Amino acid sequence: MAQTSPIRVGLIGCGGNGRGHLRRLCEMEGIALAGIADPSTKARELAREAVQDSDLPGFRKPSNLLAQTQPDAVVISTPHTLHLRHILDSLEAGCHVLCEKPLICSTSEAREVIAARDATGLLLGISYQRHTMSPYMYCRQLLADEEIGEITFVSCWQAQAWYYLTRGTWRVNPELSGGGQLNDSASHLLDAVLWMTGLQPEEVHAIVDKLDAEVDIVSAITAHCSNNALCNFSVIGNAPPGFGVFEEIVIWGSKAALAIQDNDVYRWNASGKRRKVAKREMPKGSNPDANFIAAIRGTEQLAAPAECGLPVIQLTEAIWESGESGQPAKVKH
Ligand SMILES: NC(=O)c1ccc[n+]([C@@H]2O[C@H](COP(=O)([O-])OP(=O)(O)OC[C@H]3O[C@@H](n4cnc5c(N)ncnc54)[C@H](O)[C@@H]3O)[C@@H](O)[C@H]2O)c1
Repeated sequence: MAQTSPIRVGLIGCGGNGRGHLRRLCEMEGIALAGIADPSTKARELAREAVQDSDLPGFRKPSNLLAQTQPDAVVISTPHTLHLRHILDSLEAGCHVLCEKPLICSTSEAREVIAARDATGLLLGISYQRHTMSPYMYCRQLLADEEIGEITFVSCWQAQAWYYLTRGTWRVNPELSGGGQLNDSASHLLDAVLWMTGLQPEEVHAIVDKLDAEVDIVSAITAHCSNNALCNFSVIGNAPPGFGVFEEIVIWGSKAALAIQDNDVYRWNASGKRRKVAKREMPKGSNPDANFIAAIRGTEQLAAPAECGLPVIQLTEAIWESGESGQPAKVKH
């Protein structure tokens, strides 16, 4: 049922990204911050500073945040393998959940959290912000309207100095990260392609390089999809030091083609003429926090419900399998 009274939100995980969620939530009307949880005293302090609320209740353990503040909703922004426990505990405590990507770290975990969500009737969303960003929303609609025709080929890449940025952090410790760049920024790339195109990868050929790390850093991936379309995903986790996230997705169809280059969209018409799409042509964007709160109020659908996490982890598992074996791997649906 839609909620009209102030929504009390808790934050689990007060790192750099969690604090971003907190700031956005704090700026929204009708939101009350219930409290924060993080084992790090410093992270809790920084979170309180971020919202200039020195009295914001803080807890070392998420279970204490849930029991003592009884929030209506929580945002989870913790290391990846902890998402499962934090999601299940939050749903059990009666909270709507917005969880950071990757939702979970295996297909079986994805099914487990979706079943738990269904058993409670609560919301479970993923913070895949591309679902609320104008260029991606625009392209998804264009593809749904069949303006590009049947998709024949997708070519995309994402580059980031991830290898240099993550040294010595939980991100390169498989026990906490559940995987490397494919579970981190590249999770957005896989999701964006699958979500915009609706393609279903069936078989994957992948070369995955861990460099000197314990997790994937660089991946060259070709996926064969259900309608015979091919997708090439290039994940360049060892871009030069200092590089932020750069991303390009080009989608070829039987009638035309389109591209997203960072936040610009280009369209090729049937005769191969290219034009840049003006911002005013695109739908208004938002962010996952605003969308989550609107979904709780019943005024919007969740932009990235838990179901979006399932095809991403199914594809990711097939990539890891192919990378390990050196052989093509079937995507297990
Ligand atoms: N959507 C995006 O674009 C985006 C960007 C950055 C990070 N993220 C995601 O956000 C999440 C956090 O990433 P980050 O960059 O903030 O990492 P971070 O290392 O800055 O923060 C992680 C925080 O989790 C805390 N933590 C560890 N164990 C915990 C536990 N048991 N309970 C509660 N807190 C615990 C740590 O103390 C730390 O403060 C990850 O899922 C990451 O993939 C998403």
